[in-house]
Amino acid sequence: MNTTTAIVLAAGQGTRMKSALPKVMHPVSGLPILHYGVQAALDAGCEEVVVVVGHGRQMVEEYLARAFPGGRVKTAIQEQQRGTGDAARVGLAAVRKAAASILLMNGDVPLVRGDDLRAVLAPLDLEKAPALSFAVCVVEDPTGYGRVVRKDGKVVFIREHRDLRDVAEQSVREINAGIYAANVALLREALATLVPNNSQGELYLTDIVPFACNAGERVDTVELAADVLAGVNDREQLEQVDRAMQGRIVRHWRKEGVTVREGARIETGVVLDPDVTIESGAVLRGRTHVRRGASVDVGCVLTDADVGEAVTLKPYSVVTGSRIGARAHIGPFAHLRPDSDVGEEAHVGNFVETKKTRLGKGAKANHLAYLGDGVIGAGANVGAGTIFCNYDGVRKHTTTIGEGAFIGSDSQLVAPVTVGDGAYVATGTTVTYDVPADALAIGRARQENKEGYAPLLRAKLNRGLEKK
Ligand code: UD1
Ligand code: CA
Repeated sequence: MNTTTAIVLAAGQGTRMKSALPKVMHPVSGLPILHYGVQAALDAGCEEVVVVVGHGRQMVEEYLARAFPGGRVKTAIQEQQRGTGDAARVGLAAVRKAAASILLMNGDVPLVRGDDLRAVLAPLDLEKAPALSFAVCVVEDPTGYGRVVRKDGKVVFIREHRDLRDVAEQSVREINAGIYAANVALLREALATLVPNNSQGELYLTDIVPFACNAGERVDTVELAADVLAGVNDREQLEQVDRAMQGRIVRHWRKEGVTVREGARIETGVVLDPDVTIESGAVLRGRTHVRRGASVDVGCVLTDADVGEAVTLKPYSVVTGSRIGARAHIGPFAHLRPDSDVGEEAHVGNFVETKKTRLGKGAKANHLAYLGDGVIGAGANVGAGTIFCNYDGVRKHTTTIGEGAFIGSDSQLVAPVTVGDGAYVATGTTVTYDVPADALAIGRARQENKEGYAPLLRAKLNRGLEKK
């Protein structure tokens, strides 16, 4: 089988985005635009992917190294952005000699998938191999795209929107999708002939098409669905592409047995098990995994969250980098910050914030608490208004609460401190040293009742008012 290398063009600034961020780094469904093209090229079976970088290249290179480790994705630097043809030259110079054919594609078309690219590559494998094939789409509104100009049904050249010459060219609705496959030798030859004789004074990659035609090589077009090629050039198109991607993702999970309500947002990379319910306005991001039977109610925001089976996430809970055990109840309005680990059947209720805290099986913190850097034993009960005072202004310290312990409302636990198994902390106590197992800790000013004193007090206060 032929080895194929992909060249992904991603050096452009994306002027129309009006952004400090390189265009290809703008996120679509949580991942940079560029991620999708590179992944699609890998999915299509390309051995190696050369990404041509330029504008904001350090950021792009760092991202690619992180997202695609293992050496199959590398970069080539286009110092000056002299057009797609120049970028292709830069990319080709970085290709290993062994590659027999090249897949060339714009880096700003995130809806393209591996199968689409395979379709463009397929004609190259035919016995009477064409030397060049490229993807086309027929669209309602071809504004901004290069038009495929044919004569007697045969492709002759591609004309860029701003270079259109007459009404006949203007009326063409078959456009160039910016995805090409070619034999490496022909591509090398074709790229060498490019000249910047167009309105932008750039080297146009599209000019390889008339070159191949004039050289008598067979040129094939592969038609792709119109929604596949949508390129991102401005914020409006970014939004359209994001919406299309969301539609794709949501349809996929519905097919897998997940109830996804209108208006929920599920980003790329999230995993949902069957019988999960995602209500409207919920946002699921990153490496979030929601397991079988769990429900995520209105307005929850989950980022890198591992949600266990049959968990109930009540409205407006925010979970980041945390794990929730099976059948636990979270929220409404709970905030699980990174490294929280909620045990099976535990409860974390409204206005409870946890950070780097582990709750054992069945432990409960139902109302208004800050639980930072803690270890809470199974079955323990943490009352309303409890605060783990984990920070002394310099360092963070751990609060440990034993199994079955009871922490009365409005208690402060000044870390580092341990409350033993089965211990009882009376309401309003400030715990500053360890409480042994099964002990009662009580540390608050003793209450005093002065009989009949209230009317006297009121009279005194009223006299004070008259004097003024
Ligand atoms: C290009 C095609 C057009 C096609 C459209 C499909 C050309 C001349 N035109 O136009 O026929 O209909 O794509 O989406 O190729 N890039 C570089 N270096 C450069 C210039 C661009 O790496 O010097 C990269 C960009 O980052 C981008 C891609 O090439 O990812 C396409 O460039 P862009 O300027 O968006 O081309 P279009 O005008 O969309
Ligand atoms: Ca484009």
